[in-house]
Amino acid sequence: MPLLDVKDLSVTFARRGQRTVRAVDGVSFSVEAGQVVGLVGESGCGKSVTSLALMGLLPKQRGVTVGGSAIFADDTDLLKTDERTMRDIRGRDVAMIFQDPLSSLNPVVPIGVQVTEVLTRHRGMTGDAARKEATDLLNKVGIPDPTRRLKEYPHQLSGGMRQRALIAMAVACKPRLLIADEPTTALDVTIQAQILELLRGLVRESGTALIMITHDLGVVAGICDTVNVLYAGRVVESARRKPLFAEPRHPYTHGLLGSVPRLDSGRGEKLHAIRGSVRDVLPWPDGCAFAPRCDRQVDACVGEPPALVEGIHRHAYRCVNPEPATAEVSS
Ligand SMILES: Nc1ncnc2c1ncn2[C@@H]1O[C@H](COP(=O)(O)OP(=O)(O)O)[C@@H](O)[C@H]1O
Ligand SMILES: [Mg+2]
Repeated sequence: MPLLDVKDLSVTFARRGQRTVRAVDGVSFSVEAGQVVGLVGESGCGKSVTSLALMGLLPKQRGVTVGGSAIFADDTDLLKTDERTMRDIRGRDVAMIFQDPLSSLNPVVPIGVQVTEVLTRHRGMTGDAARKEATDLLNKVGIPDPTRRLKEYPHQLSGGMRQRALIAMAVACKPRLLIADEPTTALDVTIQAQILELLRGLVRESGTALIMITHDLGVVAGICDTVNVLYAGRVVESARRKPLFAEPRHPYTHGLLGSVPRLDSGRGEKLHAIRGSVRDVLPWPDGCAFAPRCDRQVDACVGEPPALVEGIHRHAYRCVNPEPATAEVSS
């Protein structure tokens, strides 16, 4: 059984006088302990809304509807759990690293207090024990001189240090599931590599299940076991990392991979850009949302929503006119 089994997750935002936004539209995926699952896609495709829904952090107001299920550890549906229970689950069992480190730390509370708070709340540690553990944690995430850093405020730390402090807080409780929403987007590449290494270590040593949210295929290549490609709130392709990179079947995935420079292609060769943007509105209610931008569009794309086609090695995609299969790829 997977640690988290997400089935048919959907989130809509309705505002008076405006068209209802289907931010997430029937997303299913699962994550096992010790596994890294990627959610990949352009900005606006529903990655953050998916993670907020799983954490129970979407605004609880009229007009926001959440459907489907997200069964955690065989028995808890994260989408239907009351706020009090959710508060215990968050941090202890499921932790999240947010996209923006500055806005997720409290600006007027020293880093040390924020880290020890987590330890007190979820592991019952206080006083010297908590302080020592906080120092160890900062050390572990590669923050030099942790004793001094613990006394500092978020604004005194660089972006990379802040992100590491947040990661320290997320791993403080040894969560069974960690959701990382673009944790390295704001960081330069050397820090990015260190943070990925840190997360890999956590998965390896603690058996943590990691949902890695990113638009960066380099990050996917570096850390993910399986990948779900999202487009306009739907999973359009999912596969293990190797077959996905070797043989993308959905034209969107193909385009994403084609827009990354490769060392083995000729110099001066043009990069393939996907035309249009994810915000292009659909002239039809059903059908494939990518069709307006797709080079392989055929009549059938605008009728029914494309069904999920499952190929070999659980490589699945939603496309009526997929990229041709070239080589047999083993996973
Ligand atoms: N509170 C909200 N009200 C209305 N629409 C929202 C809200 N939050 C997100 N959205 C919309 O949901 C879609 C998905 O957003 P998001 O999950 O943040 O994308 P990503 O993280 O993939 O960049 C976007 O079209 C966004 O505008
Ligand atoms: Mg986001």
